[in-house]
Amino acid sequence: MSMIICNTGMLVQTREENIAFTAGKDMAVLPVIENGWLLIEDGIIAGYGPPETMPSFSDAITKLDAGGGYVFPAFCDPHTHLVYAGSREKEYTDKIRGLSYEEIAQRGGGILNSAKLLHDTPEEELFRQSMDRVNEIISFGTGAVEIKSGYGLTTEDELKMLRVIRRIKQETPLTVRSTFLGAHAVPALYRNNRSGYVDLIVNEMIPAVASERLADYIDVFCDRGFFTVAETARILESGARHGMRPKIHANELDYSGGIQEGVKHGALSVDHLEFTGDEEIRALLGSGTMPTLLPGAAFFLGMTDPPARKMIEAGLPLAMASDYNPGSSPSGNMKLVVSLGCIRLRLLPEEAFNAVTLNAAYAMGLSETHGSITVGKKANLFITKRIPSYEFLPYAYGSNLVETVILNGEVVFSQQSDKESS
Ligand code: NIG
Ligand code: FE
Repeated sequence: MSMIICNTGMLVQTREENIAFTAGKDMAVLPVIENGWLLIEDGIIAGYGPPETMPSFSDAITKLDAGGGYVFPAFCDPHTHLVYAGSREKEYTDKIRGLSYEEIAQRGGGILNSAKLLHDTPEEELFRQSMDRVNEIISFGTGAVEIKSGYGLTTEDELKMLRVIRRIKQETPLTVRSTFLGAHAVPALYRNNRSGYVDLIVNEMIPAVASERLADYIDVFCDRGFFTVAETARILESGARHGMRPKIHANELDYSGGIQEGVKHGALSVDHLEFTGDEEIRALLGSGTMPTLLPGAAFFLGMTDPPARKMIEAGLPLAMASDYNPGSSPSGNMKLVVSLGCIRLRLLPEEAFNAVTLNAAYAMGLSETHGSITVGKKANLFITKRIPSYEFLPYAYGSNLVETVILNGEVVFSQQSDKESS
C-alpha cells in the first residue's frame, strides 16, 4: 500500500537524521519544507522532499491532495489519565466557588471520587467511555498516547484499568504506552495506615501488573499531601525489579524532592514541575530524564505555571502533554496544549511544536519511530486546513484546524472542507 501526499503548504518537523530530542537553544529550530511531497509505503514514511524532487508516480498509487494544508507529525501525548469513569464537573464548580484542589482531595473528592466511580463501573462500560475520548483525541491529531492507571487503588481495579488500556492498544490505530500508577492517592481504607498501602503496592499490585505484562512504566504522585520521597523510592525500586521504568508526577504542589528522586531512579520523564528551582534544574541537566510540562493542568486549576523559559535557557529539553484527566485537565486537545505552551509558558511556536512531537516521543520511549517526518518512521501525520503559517496553529487557539489524520499510513479521520473553491 503506497500513498503520496501532494499539494501541501508545508511539511513541518522534517528531520533527515533522527535525533532523540532537542534541548536549550535548539528547541527553537523547527525544520520545514515548503510545498513538499511525502510518500508513504506500508505504513512507514518512505520519502519526502521539496516540490522539484517529486518523482512521477503511476496512476496506481493513491494520491492525497493536501489542498495547501500543512503536514505535521501526529502529536505524541506522553502523559494522560484518559481511562476514567464519569466526570467531576461538580468539583469544578466547587473550585470556582473558591475551594482548592488539595481541599477538594482532603474532603474525599478528587482522585478518590474518581476511584469510587471507577469501582462502580463495569470494565466494558469503562472501555466504552474511554473510547469516546480516544476517538476524540485521534480527531484532534494525536497519534501516540501514554495512559496511566491510578483510579483503581485496589489491585483488582488497577488491573481493570490496565486491561482497558491494553484493549485500547489492541483495538485502535493509536500507539499506546501504559503506566501503572497505583501510588496516585492513598485510598480511604488506608488513611491511617499509609505504609500498609505502600506495602500493598509493592507486595501485591506490582507483581500482579508485571505478571500480566500490563504496564511499560511506573508512576508515583510524589508531592505534598500525596506520596513522600521515601515512599516514592520504595515503589520505584520495586517497579525497577519488575522491569518498569519510572515516569513520575513531581513538584506540582511544592518543591517536593520528586524531580531529584525521579532523576536518581533513571526516570524517562518527570512531569508537572510547576515548582522547579535551580537545584531541580541542576539535577535534570544531562540526566536523560525528560522534563514534561502539562500547561492544561495549571491553566484549568488556576495554579502556578512552571518556569519554562528558565528551563530552556538553562539548556534543558522540554516535552508537553495534555494530562487528560477528570480532575485537573479534562481535555486531550494537544493543539490547545501548544497554544497554552505559547501563551502561558512563553514558548516560541517552534519550541512548543518540538515539545509535543520529538521531545514528547522521547518522553514515552518512542523517539525511534515517532515525533518527526523522517524516512523510516511510522506514517503518523495530520494535515491541517489551509493556513498561512505554522504559527497560525497556536495563534488560532480556539479553531479546529486539523482536517485529516493519518495513522500507520491510513486515513483514520477526515473532515470535509471546500479548499479547492477557497
Ligand atoms: O496529573 N496530579 C495528579 N494527578 C492528576 C490529577 C488527577 C485527578 O485529579 O483526577 C494530574 O493532575
Ligand atoms: Fe497526571
